[in-house]
Amino acid sequence: MRAVTWHGRADVQVDTVPDPTLQDDTDVIVEITSSGICGSDLHLIEVMAPFMTKGDVMGHEPMGVVREVGSAVTAVKPGDRVVVPFNISCGTCWMCSQGLQSQCETTQNREQGFGASLFGYTKLYGQVPGGQAEYLRVPFGNTLPIKVPDGPSDDRFVYLSDVLPTSWQAVQYAATPPGGTLLVLGLGPIGDMCTRIAAHLGLRVVGVDVVPERLERATARGTEVIRSTDQADVVAEIRDRTDGRGADAVIDAVGMEAHGSPVARIAQKATAVIPDAIMAPVMKVAGIDRLAALNTAIEAVRRGGTVSLSGVYGGATDPMPLSNMFDKQIQLRMGQANVWRWVPDILPLLVDDDPLGVDDFATHRVPLEQAPQAYADFREKKDGAVKVLLQP
Ligand SMILES: NC(=O)c1ccc[n+]([C@@H]2O[C@H](COP(=O)([O-])OP(=O)(O)OC[C@H]3O[C@@H](n4cnc5c(N)ncnc54)[C@H](O)[C@@H]3O)[C@@H](O)[C@H]2O)c1
Ligand SMILES: [Zn+2]
Ligand SMILES: [Zn+2]
Repeated sequence: MRAVTWHGRADVQVDTVPDPTLQDDTDVIVEITSSGICGSDLHLIEVMAPFMTKGDVMGHEPMGVVREVGSAVTAVKPGDRVVVPFNISCGTCWMCSQGLQSQCETTQNREQGFGASLFGYTKLYGQVPGGQAEYLRVPFGNTLPIKVPDGPSDDRFVYLSDVLPTSWQAVQYAATPPGGTLLVLGLGPIGDMCTRIAAHLGLRVVGVDVVPERLERATARGTEVIRSTDQADVVAEIRDRTDGRGADAVIDAVGMEAHGSPVARIAQKATAVIPDAIMAPVMKVAGIDRLAALNTAIEAVRRGGTVSLSGVYGGATDPMPLSNMFDKQIQLRMGQANVWRWVPDILPLLVDDDPLGVDDFATHRVPLEQAPQAYADFREKKDGAVKVLLQP
């Protein structure tokens, strides 16, 4: 089959690789019809490179049609339409039963000291082949795939794999009080969807970015925006709009490659020139993240407010402004999204009307073969690329 594979920094290609096969009696094979490119994929082709191997199949936002099922699979059958969550979670362990699918105890990567395996990710998360491919092997066929109805286009459901539950969790973790103000840093796919969910839940929401078409998408839906990522500007603006207090809650939907922090930029550049064998252990104990957005979040939140991190950070010992966080009595919540935890809340919003605007959320739908160009455009924010769906 054809698949998007990792070849090096900023280098993905489309290769012919072996078709996946059933390995366990609860496996299913899904023929992929749509598969998103995510901001997290950009980390994998940049700063997380020391944890990748040439030939790794990318992608963790797939949906498609079940083609084969193992002998013990009863929940889905060939021909069923399914979305595949980005967490590989068993659905039956203690963590899964707590709604913490990203910590699944069956697929936890204990040797690496990391949580549940993820499709199309690094060695830290199990190095499982991903879904930017023609076919995907999906384990836990009775509990993992999300069955969705036939009829509407893939756009309706594909974001259940990651964008929707990630953004939903970010908004829930932010716990903005009724009548309060939520500030969302970054208006990429995740931040954009956070603003839509917050508005749907009746919250006042303010979005922050500098990319013109991303700001335009938000304002077109009536979201207030701040057109700067400079910490001083953002903090001054949000205080101005909240009686001088700051936002009740802030979502960081940016992550470790934020604009700003020149020192971290140098550290990140080092990951590009130092051999991976040396860099991988260094990265597990040293900070390589640009913390600009996180620092802005901590400054921009009001005293006693909540910071909700959905942007992914990778380093272990980045200095955090702990005295400031303690003094401001900030609550901090974060983590990979627990996809299945939020599916029952989200699915009803995808059935009749389209309150979150998923139907025209994608800016680009391209064949798998065009993945290298699509990655480049998304990374450079060129050609209006905000959300790209690969369609094998
Ligand atoms: N927690 C999860 O489960 C989960 C799931 C999916 C994605 N993510 C993470 O969420 C983050 C966002 O993903 P995305 O797909 O929207 O990515 P993206 O890279 O397209 O979006 C990031 C946006 O942040 C803006 N930005 C950069 N620096 C900023 C700053 N200092 N202040 C405000 N905005 C700034 C950029 O202009 C860009 O528009 C990534 O870190 C990704 O890894 C987490
Ligand atoms: Zn993703
Ligand atoms: Zn589990």
